[in-house]
Amino acid sequence: MPVSEHPGSNAPSLAHSFSSLRALLAAHSTRRQSRVYALSCLALGMLVAALWVYGGLVRDVTDFTRTLPHPQVQSSTVGQSKPSVITVTVTATPSPTPALDAWRHSSHSAAAIDNTGIPRKIWQIMLPKRVLQNQTWISDPAKLKDIPSWLALNPDYEYNLIGQDRGDRFVRQYFGDNPRILSTWEKMPNVGQKSDFLRYLILSVEGGVYSDTDTVALKPIDFWVPPHLKDRVRLVVGLEFDRRDGPMWADILHEVQFCQWTIAAAPGHPVFKKMISRILTSLDDLSALHQVPLESLKPTSKEVMNSTGPAAWTDVVFEQLQEYDPSLLEPKNLSYMNAPRLIGDIYVLTIDGFGMGQKHSGSTNDGTIPPAALVKHNFNGSWRGNKRGRDESSASEP
Ligand SMILES: *[C@@H]1O[C@H](CO)[C@@H](O)[C@H](O)[C@H]1NC(C)=O
Ligand SMILES: *[C@@H]1O[C@H](CO)[C@@H](O)[C@H](O)[C@H]1NC(C)=O
Ligand SMILES: *[C@@H]1O[C@H](CO)[C@@H](O)[C@H](O)[C@H]1NC(C)=O
Ligand SMILES: *[C@@H]1O[C@H](CO)[C@@H](O)[C@H](O)[C@H]1NC(C)=O
Repeated sequence: MPVSEHPGSNAPSLAHSFSSLRALLAAHSTRRQSRVYALSCLALGMLVAALWVYGGLVRDVTDFTRTLPHPQVQSSTVGQSKPSVITVTVTATPSPTPALDAWRHSSHSAAAIDNTGIPRKIWQIMLPKRVLQNQTWISDPAKLKDIPSWLALNPDYEYNLIGQDRGDRFVRQYFGDNPRILSTWEKMPNVGQKSDFLRYLILSVEGGVYSDTDTVALKPIDFWVPPHLKDRVRLVVGLEFDRRDGPMWADILHEVQFCQWTIAAAPGHPVFKKMISRILTSLDDLSALHQVPLESLKPTSKEVMNSTGPAAWTDVVFEQLQEYDPSLLEPKNLSYMNAPRLIGDIYVLTIDGFGMGQKHSGSTNDGTIPPAALVKHNFNGSWRGNKRGRDESSASEP
């Protein structure tokens, strides 16, 4: 029986075209035996090709998943989407002259503002731990290994890694007419403080999500705020410390402290103006206290935390919360939160939101990723510079 007469009408289209091909071959063949031989070779060849393509796909997907920094993320809600091609532009210190305007232009046009008022932009800062290699500042790739988690979960966000040059240009561009801010930025000797200062300046102008380079994204940013609250939220803050019934820590000034390793904000949120002003005041106070100019200041860990870091941030955020809800008397009022709270336009997350995996504060620390977790902070901390490492380690180990 000629192959073209096979009743294959209900077979898939691939099989159908395969039989058409075979029919074509059959028409050109005169002898039955050579037809059978040719068809066998063809079938074998297609089988080998199919296996090769399939094997390649499997290998690619395996490679992709292996490159994700934290495979357990995949089993959480975010891991269900299929890996797809992600195109990323990491802007690392563009060339000095025309880049400033180009960058400003692109950063204002590229990111759509979604209905949270929080623009689709991610900011990370990499100031220290660089080596000068043939006149070019570069970073250690190992320090950036958590960045793919941000890119993979937020492929439609504009991603910005800010190095020293771009940080300098940003401050000159937007705060060049403010001599106090400009000179404070230029004279600050401590890189941890500089990184702190820069994140507030950037969020105040641009908005978006700032996160330290040693954080791992666990949920797409679009899911951080529930849909019914999106049009009301203009700042998202998380806790790093909730004393609860535990002891007070020597280095932590508040019974409940907000973290500033991750912040999501709409541009121009009033909390940043307050924070910038707090930083200028605190640094003046420290200069006066130690009787040295700012550029010679060698702040202790506690002084860093209380001038640019989480203690200062907590004072300022709490002041803002009190404006919205005067019944809040002290940060302790936010202790034992078991669900996020919207206070004014500030969405306050529970400890697990940005602070899961810590051995205190009611943080989930059993190796699982709790449903409330949005970000994991690895507390690698060393990038914060000489005077900053201690608070990180003490915050992870009371
Ligand atoms: C740095 O420059 C030197 C000489 O100018 C050259 O031999 C060397 O290969 C350069 N190193 C890198 C990493 O480009
Ligand atoms: C923290 O800084 C504020 C503002 O500079 C200051 O009033 C306060 O006394 C400081 N707290 C500590 C414990 O140093
Ligand atoms: C805040 O805490 C104080 C006591 O520490 C309490 O008197 C006050 O009612 C609390 N306010 C709220 C809003 O929970
Ligand atoms: C950062 O901390 C995490 C978790 O504590 C650890 O697994 C990782 O190896 C650290 N990475 C670096 C570069 O120190």
